[in-house]
Amino acid sequence: MPRIVVLTGAGISAESGVPTFRGPDGLWEGHRVEDVATPEAFDADPETVQRFYDARRAALTTVEPNRAHRALAELEAAVGDDLLVVTQNIDDLHERAGSQRVVHMHGELLSALCRACGRRTPFRGALSDHPPCPVCGAVDLRPDVVWFGEVPYRMQDIQQALASCELFVSVGTSGAVYPAAGFVQLARVYGARTLELNLEPSEGSPYFHEARHGPAGLLVPDWVSQLVD
Ligand code: OAD
Repeated sequence: MPRIVVLTGAGISAESGVPTFRGPDGLWEGHRVEDVATPEAFDADPETVQRFYDARRAALTTVEPNRAHRALAELEAAVGDDLLVVTQNIDDLHERAGSQRVVHMHGELLSALCRACGRRTPFRGALSDHPPCPVCGAVDLRPDVVWFGEVPYRMQDIQQALASCELFVSVGTSGAVYPAAGFVQLARVYGARTLELNLEPSEGSPYFHEARHGPAGLLVPDWVSQLVD
């Protein structure tokens, strides 16, 4: 069980050029989140939803990990199994920075989920091209992304890690979406020290023992070097 659990959200990828969900206009890349991130939206207009995530997947090739992602990879290199990164992000920037112990609780852009056989397979193309499932051959692939109303991945592993960790750190998340928004309280109940690193006070700020505010690209490397030193 890890001694440190780091929860990351869209804010950690912001300095890489990946837009956050709740921008000043309340839109995610020009769409209301509920129009592209619910099973109902997919049932009503699958082409629009497929094209939306195809564009997000294609955009991954234009961005790179930033100092915050790299600092977490350096921390993992220093402490190994004692660190678990739980991310709400569907990009692959933690992995590209070198992190290996990463749980994508909201799924991944570089994966497709077959609605016929239920298998998840690595995927890099365009789902709007209607490719067949590599496992069962059905033409019924959807983005492997957890939408509102669906259960996040690996909740049991995450809960066990939160129950056993000594330090819980939240980076770049608004604290607006449950269950991730409740992790700080769970970790506290089990005795962890809790730290928020975010551009501004989040909705969850009052629940943390300590909160530091500023860009993740500065705060995360500072925190990691404090810890490792
Ligand atoms: P949000 O867009 O809700 O919040 C991003 C947070 O990052 C905000 O609190 C910003 O202040 C902060 N932030 C922005 N730039 C930053 C920077 N350079 N350094 C540090 N912090 C910065 O994104 P999430 O909290 O990740 O779920 O959103 C949670 C979930 O809501 C997402 O995973 C997604 C979304 O709907 C699903 O799709 C299921």
